[in-house]
Amino acid sequence: MTESPNPTDELLEVLENHHLTESINVVSLHAPTFSKALKAGQFLEIKVSDSLTPLLRRPFSIHSISGETIEIMSKRVGIGTDLIYRCKKGDRLQTLAPLGNTFGYDKNDFDTAVLISGGIGVAPMALLEETLLKLGKKVVNIIGARNASEIIEKGLSNISVATDDGSKGFKGNSVQLFSSMLPKFDGEKLRVFSCGPNPMLSALSNLCNENSIPCEVSIESTMGCGIGICYGCPIRIKSGGGFTYKLLCQYGSVIDSREILFD
Ligand code: FES
Repeated sequence: MTESPNPTDELLEVLENHHLTESINVVSLHAPTFSKALKAGQFLEIKVSDSLTPLLRRPFSIHSISGETIEIMSKRVGIGTDLIYRCKKGDRLQTLAPLGNTFGYDKNDFDTAVLISGGIGVAPMALLEETLLKLGKKVVNIIGARNASEIIEKGLSNISVATDDGSKGFKGNSVQLFSSMLPKFDGEKLRVFSCGPNPMLSALSNLCNENSIPCEVSIESTMGCGIGICYGCPIRIKSGGGFTYKLLCQYGSVIDSREILFD
């Protein structure tokens, strides 16, 4: 996991807004100065409105990069993401990037990368997969969602699916599916990369730590500034026999599963 260069704040033009489902969309942004600097796992902060509501920026991970175009994937869950869902070609979004560290895709301790995502946690996986494949790694995707209609496979390959209601693939969550698949990976050097809701990441961290599998979790959080000013993103990091607080936007958002202490 590496640190990001200094972020810059720019108005980016919306090139396209593609609605994947009734709540999930992918926005293409023209980002000539950001695109070459952004790496898998990093995020950007968007001021979704010129008005005071919502006041704070919203964090989005980088879904893909193609030349000077970057994509973000968003799920409509509140005022800010509703505005992102409804933005139009030609709109301009005030965007701060690059932010955060990267996934440890360049580590040399693994041959097989298992990308485990839950819900909108699938957002950073396409860029991560592309990066890993270029490095010659084998990539396996495990995607979990509540039901079949919420499974997003855009940009991913070699996919196993888990749904809470069993409407597609394995009945259960992505961590349970990964646990059931572990015997298939016997003899392979694994590293797990994950993003999703905290209960899922907590269960996955426990599973990987118990099985001595290196695991990185990208934590989803409300991050109002992204640069360590608002102090709105504390996380607990193990320290000695206890823990210490760090700011997620500065320390992550990708964190080793052996370090993070979930609630
Ligand atoms: Fe403001 Fe981390 S998001 S301090």
